[in-house]
Amino acid sequence: MFLCRSDELSEGRYREFTTEVDGETVFLVATRHRGEPRAWYNVCPHQGRALNFAPDRFLTDDDGHLVCCAHGAVFEPDRGRCISGPCRNAELKAVVLSESDGEIRVSA
Ligand code: FES
Repeated sequence: MFLCRSDELSEGRYREFTTEVDGETVFLVATRHRGEPRAWYNVCPHQGRALNFAPDRFLTDDDGHLVCCAHGAVFEPDRGRCISGPCRNAELKAVVLSESDGEIRVSA
């Protein structure tokens, strides 16, 4: 399933997307980390809230980590693991992406 054009994801910036996985509409947060596109369900493991504070607007810290707007959980952009905050060591649920011909697609 098409997610976005390659140039829509850049290092250190988190974007909100809606797409389909297995026939269901899902809400994702995506970024690019060390050149690779990454995406997770936009659901904080702490209380199940969306991570963003406004449409397509996410908080980050000075090191480029994603910060949940609700209670400040901090997630690293590699595996989506919480490194600080109320759900420390929990992980965002990842989706598998593929990138080719200037497009990023959800694989599974
Ligand atoms: S819901 Fe994300 S830190 Fe509480």
